Amino acid sequence: MALEHFPDHVAVSERSLEYDCFEITTLTPHIGAEIRGLDLSSPLSSEQDKELRRALQDWMVLVFPEQELTADQHKAFGSHFGDLHIHPQLRGAKMSHPEILPVHTNADSPFTPGDGWHADVTCEELPLWGSMLYIRETPECGGGDTLYADMYTAYELLSEPMKRFLEGLTAIHDGAGPYSEQQGMGLGRSAPGEGFPCSEHPVVVRHPDTGRKLLYVNSGFTTRIVGLSAAESRGILDLLFRHIDSTPKLHCRVHWGPKTLTFWDNLATQHHAIWDYYPHSRVGGRVSVLGKTRPTA
Ligand code: SIN
Repeated sequence: MALEHFPDHVAVSERSLEYDCFEITTLTPHIGAEIRGLDLSSPLSSEQDKELRRALQDWMVLVFPEQELTADQHKAFGSHFGDLHIHPQLRGAKMSHPEILPVHTNADSPFTPGDGWHADVTCEELPLWGSMLYIRETPECGGGDTLYADMYTAYELLSEPMKRFLEGLTAIHDGAGPYSEQQGMGLGRSAPGEGFPCSEHPVVVRHPDTGRKLLYVNSGFTTRIVGLSAAESRGILDLLFRHIDSTPKLHCRVHWGPKTLTFWDNLATQHHAIWDYYPHSRVGGRVSVLGKTRPTA
């Protein structure tokens, strides 16, 4: 039966699982893949680079178990793909690796980074193209998984009238929500000297690498849709956030073993770290690669 009989159906696309440089096992038929047989501590050959970029475009979230990485090797893997981002909260900090955002949670943590649906740092003008989170230690009780959601499919599952309504709109992405002491995901930090970053981006963005449209609002950073009344904006954003968090077919779940690195497309996906392991600890760090252009419709 034709797809139009199932308006909320996601067709499994014909993506090749043939790679010469590594073995790949998909997490779902749409998003997420585990990759074995590649040592991320060594520079990538041009063939490995080509195949990894293809895998990232196809699966959006790539999980690499059992990787031995120093901080320098973690950064070198990120730098292979572009300039590294320094998180607004770490700019000017006296630390040996400001490009690595610590992702540490233990019994004394008032919050865990990323505990809510978001894409990383969309309050910046230049988007983060990709992030590489390396978890060195996992909670001894289990748990600490991360959920990811596919923003291409989130867009494609919207009705045609809703897609037409959203095309051409822009939205504000404000760092004060997640980063300030009082609000949001409660990262509990004070504003850097120049204030929290705040930017306006299209609600529907075209991915620079694939040319596909995706939904580009997230509950972590997006505060309002420009040109709508406050009530209209709240209603539409809540509808979109609910669509993202309550449509399981958009999601995959990454289970971290110790020394796992996960590399995700930060435009095409959102994620949510699950803090279900209190009072145990989870320890790692994230490197992110800057995009080259502002998100465009
Ligand atoms: C993050 O938002 O980058 C952290 C995700 C995680 O800890 O799984």
